[in-house]
Parts: sequence; structure tokens; C-alpha cells
Amino acid sequence: MKGKFNTFEGCEGVGKSRQIRLLEEYLKDNGIKYYLTREPGGTAISEQIRSVILDGNNAEMTDECEALLYAAARVQLIKQEIEPRLKNGELVFCDRYVDSSLAYQGKARGLGYEFVKRINSYAFKNAMPDLTVFLNLSPKDAFLRKGGVDGTDRLELSGAAFHDKVYEGYLELAKTYRDRFAVIDASGTKEQTHAKIIAALKAKGII
Ligand code: TYD
Repeated sequence: MKGKFNTFEGCEGVGKSRQIRLLEEYLKDNGIKYYLTREPGGTAISEQIRSVILDGNNAEMTDECEALLYAAARVQLIKQEIEPRLKNGELVFCDRYVDSSLAYQGKARGLGYEFVKRINSYAFKNAMPDLTVFLNLSPKDAFLRKGGVDGTDRLELSGAAFHDKVYEGYLELAKTYRDRFAVIDASGTKEQTHAKIIAALKAKGII
């Protein structure tokens, strides 16, 4: 039996972490078993790669190197944790996945979608999500709501233009991967957004 695979995407500050916590509460309250992981990370090796990527001292890292490190961390997570669980029929959630690489590295860093797809071919061939929940809120609105950027890591220091491009990328991806994307309006209250997420998961037969 094949399990279900659901990923979460969005720009910084859209409330993704909070929504994932609300989802976990819902799943627990309803006795639904699940496995939740995150990217970059989710395995000991991938977490080590994460700390290299997000280290503010690594400012000289090339965009290509960054993209390859994300892809490397991802392949480790897929083979070690995601694939075995899906083969076992389990429900798997991942906080960020290949669409983050497409939006951040492909679009915003300017490497192009094709390059990012190529280096992530393992994921594209073997482990694509059944559903990708995209929390739709522009970076400007997200940052205003959050009360400004407190970022100390390399990515959050990249500035507004970078985040605008990430957002543009996500909107393009939502069109390209229409069948897999659920575009969720994240401008309302956390309860409203939560309800929309649950409805999308149900509509797609994830829960
Ligand atoms: P994190 O602190 O987990 O951010 P968030 O809470 O917004 O998910 O840091 C992850 C950062 O890594 C985030 O800025 C997005 C970025 N990222 C990429 O640029 N490419 C990727 O493939 C992935 C998975 C993440």
C-alpha cells in the first residue's frame, strides 16, 4: 500500500510553523497517525548540511553549491525516512520540499527551474508529494504582520527583492503544478487558515 505525502510551502513569515503545529493538534485529536519532518534537515546528516547552508559565515557560498547542498540533504531524507514510510502506507508531512528549491534557488537565485529539477531528479522521479499546501501571503504582508524581519541567517538577510522573487516563483509553480498545489489564502486569522488547510487535505484524500 502506498502512503500519502503532503508538503508545506510558503514565503518566510507566513505562519507556516504555526499552521503545522495546529495541524499536528488536529491529527492527534482525531487519532490520525502521521510522520512529520522538515527541510533542510530531518536526518542527522541532513541537519548537518542544514547548518552549513544556513550559517551566516558562509557568505561566499555559490548559488550552485547551495542548491546542490539542499538537493543532497533532500536525497538523504527521502531515502532514509520518506520512501520507507510511504512504502509502508504511512502519512508523511514535510515542512518545505523541492518547491522551496525551485522558488528560492531556481527563481530567486536565478539558477532556473531546469537546473534545480535536474539536480533534484531523484525526488521528481521517486518521491513527489500528492499535495503541496502553499500558504499564499506576499512577503510584504507577511513581514508587516510579523512586525519586521528579525533574521540573522544568510537567507533572511537577502532582502526584500529576493523574497519578492521567491513569491513570484511560488505563484508560477502553483500554475505549473496545478494538480498538486493547494493555494491557501493565509491573510486571515490562524483559525481561518487552519480550516482551509484541513479542507484541502480532506478534498485531496490526504486525511
Ligand atoms: P527555516 O528556518 O526552516 O525557515 P522556515 O521556517 O521559513 O521554513 O529555514 C529554511 C530556509 O531554507 C528558508 O529560508 C527557505 C530555505 N530553503 C531553500 O532556499 N531551498 C530549499 O530547498 C529549502 C528546503 C529551504
